[in-house]
Amino acid sequence: MSLTPTRADKFSFGLWTVGYNGTDPFGGPTRPNLDVVEAVTRLADLGAYGLTFHDDDLFAFGSSDAARQTQIDRLKQALADTGIIVPMVTTNLFSAPVFKDGGFTSNDRAVRRFALRKVLRNIDLAAELGAKTFVMWGGREGAEYDAAKDIRSALGRYREAVNLLGDYVTDKGYDIRFAIEPKPNEPRGDILLPTVGHAIAFINTLERPELVGVNPEVGHEQMAGLNFTAGIAQALDAGKLFHIDLNGQRGIKYDQDLVFGHGDLQNAFSLVDLLENGGPDGGAAYDGPRHFDYKPSRTEDITGVWTSAAANMRTYLLLKERAAAFRADPEVQEALAASRVPELAVPTLAAGESYDDLIADRSAFEDFDAAEYLGGKGFGFVHLQQLALEHLLGARG
Ligand code: GCO
Ligand code: MN
Ligand code: MN
Repeated sequence: MSLTPTRADKFSFGLWTVGYNGTDPFGGPTRPNLDVVEAVTRLADLGAYGLTFHDDDLFAFGSSDAARQTQIDRLKQALADTGIIVPMVTTNLFSAPVFKDGGFTSNDRAVRRFALRKVLRNIDLAAELGAKTFVMWGGREGAEYDAAKDIRSALGRYREAVNLLGDYVTDKGYDIRFAIEPKPNEPRGDILLPTVGHAIAFINTLERPELVGVNPEVGHEQMAGLNFTAGIAQALDAGKLFHIDLNGQRGIKYDQDLVFGHGDLQNAFSLVDLLENGGPDGGAAYDGPRHFDYKPSRTEDITGVWTSAAANMRTYLLLKERAAAFRADPEVQEALAASRVPELAVPTLAAGESYDDLIADRSAFEDFDAAEYLGGKGFGFVHLQQLALEHLLGARG
């Protein structure tokens, strides 16, 4: 297996990731701004296949039509020169002062109407560039104070917005689906649709649920103390994994946006194993972009930016290689069987068996020896996990 990224790996990066200039709440930039043409060229050289962006990453908020068009043309030329594609586009509804109380769910109705117009305009651009996924991260859709936000009305306004956008892409004939990106907090004290589970439940209340999925980010679920791989498994189960944001996070704290694998490495291993080997017949469970949403640390110079971009892709490929070795190891297969992992795929009732049959089955209850489980055989999960860890460390196969 090659550790050199190729277009077939479908690695993509946000323009705001490599373009991050180091500004944080406590200090200004530590690096000069990065031009979009430079970003596309360098990413292409490193083996990425895609660039994603917010409207405001490409042309500053409030740009004149001419300035906006110049930047779009420069991007298009860079794409043509390199073969990089734009798989996903998203809208900035969080930086400008107008969005201080959110976009789709601001208490101020005029702001909500402005936000919708900004998104509609950006959807036209996404369609023009051939993007298939339109991400909605509602960073400012939330509140700090319970009395300040009527959450049920906010959900109503969010639903109204997504329903309208669904009508728009359908009427225009655009081949675009939406992906909601959950995050529990930051920049708001509490954000609407804080986890993958909340988002999936909300999607089921929409008029066109088939057009809407999720864009889960590693660090965001981990900020809520949740198991990211388990969340991805549930998104796959619901048919809702439309896109994914890969990065690293170390525990429940501010959003770190570290390089993929530089946080919970064991969870990153199980994630890549799920994405690459968790599909039917052991194939890939997800075939969309492997999108990195990280921030090159503000301690890095511009060389460090490209080193960190490459590190994301190399770590993914290393984990993919390690996960393949894990699956191919006969001792792992034995341990999986001993842990009865495959047995969970067997339905609890036999084909055609009814609850009457279950009730009539004395071996299931009356003659079943539940007491035997005290001191009885264990599941061997720790041995299995140790095998996974040893593969992750490169200590086996
Ligand atoms: C974050 C978010 C954002 C979104 C992006 C897409 O780090 O809080 O991930 O980076 O992904 O804004 O809309
Ligand atoms: Mn993040
Ligand atoms: Mn993200």
